[in-house]
Amino acid sequence: MTIDLDHHGDTELAPGLVDLAVNVRAGMPPRWLRDELAAVDLARYPDPTAATEAVAARHGRDPSEVLLTAGAAEAFVLIARALRPRQAVVVHPQFTEPEAALRAAGHEVNRCVLAYPFELAPELVPESADLVMLGNPTNPTSVCHRSDVVASLARPGRTLVVDEAFAECVRGEPQSLAHRRDLPGLIVLRSLTKTWGLAGLRAGYVLAPAAIVTALRSAQPLWAVSSPALRAAVLCCQPVAVAEAARWAIELQREREHLLARLSPIDEIRAAPGATASFVLLQAVGHPGLRESLRERGYAVRRGDTFPGLDQTWLRVAVRDRATTDLFVETLKEILK
Ligand SMILES: Cc1ncc(COP(=O)(O)O)c(C=O)c1O
Repeated sequence: MTIDLDHHGDTELAPGLVDLAVNVRAGMPPRWLRDELAAVDLARYPDPTAATEAVAARHGRDPSEVLLTAGAAEAFVLIARALRPRQAVVVHPQFTEPEAALRAAGHEVNRCVLAYPFELAPELVPESADLVMLGNPTNPTSVCHRSDVVASLARPGRTLVVDEAFAECVRGEPQSLAHRRDLPGLIVLRSLTKTWGLAGLRAGYVLAPAAIVTALRSAQPLWAVSSPALRAAVLCCQPVAVAEAARWAIELQREREHLLARLSPIDEIRAAPGATASFVLLQAVGHPGLRESLRERGYAVRRGDTFPGLDQTWLRVAVRDRATTDLFVETLKEILK
């Protein structure tokens, strides 16, 4: 069966549905950020210098190791265009764009599919792989792999791409490799989309050895990242914004625990363990129409079967505020009754 790698949560939305399908933080961007972005001078061409320096300072890197991109999505494309892997391996289940970008650039892709409970098993990645791509924390499993286990995949002659679009969901980012300059061929991708509710702005960045940054930059269109996106990168890398994101991570953990606690008495639902991000992965065996039934009752959830390694029994559900969660769980129970 071919999997639709181009399917994303936003296609599940429709007017009037409660959005549990898209994993962008709700209620964002904050007022202060909106106001700052509205004040950006749009008449000038974008200059990435300040954003590059701000990102470098935030992660303890040299500016030569930073490339601003139009979201992590652009970074996948730049990697696929700039690199010439002999054996590319994508660790699944994960966000499908890395694989889609590699295929679009004409590369063959080998899948390394992790089984439930979706923990990274480095021995499953073939030694001969010279490009390895994974997400941490991982969409859609919500699992955050240990940094030492992820780091063990790096070696000379291999590019290791770690998509950390959801790193800020975990307070203090203990498993992030963003600051690691010692690992050969490590590319870390970050996004402003999820934490700051900036999906429409297209803002993200690459952290990598300077030679890799230079190669990726040469594949990037001129002025690819807009002035508001660059301004957002400056602002979201300030210590005050990093502290705000860390406070959100605490609140997110509380809300996620509440959602999982409400779900746990429901026999028909099994949650993938070890959730760390702004969504949980649920399995409902024996209820094939559950997603459609939820939709009929006003809830959009993300289908699981377009992620390699999952099937139609899996659904990804965003963590929202308590009131939304409680109503959702009540609806779920009614459907399963
Ligand atoms: C794991 C993961 N990485 C990257 C992205 C894309 O991020 P951006 O908006 O920065 O392109 C997404 C979007 O859903 C995602 O889930």
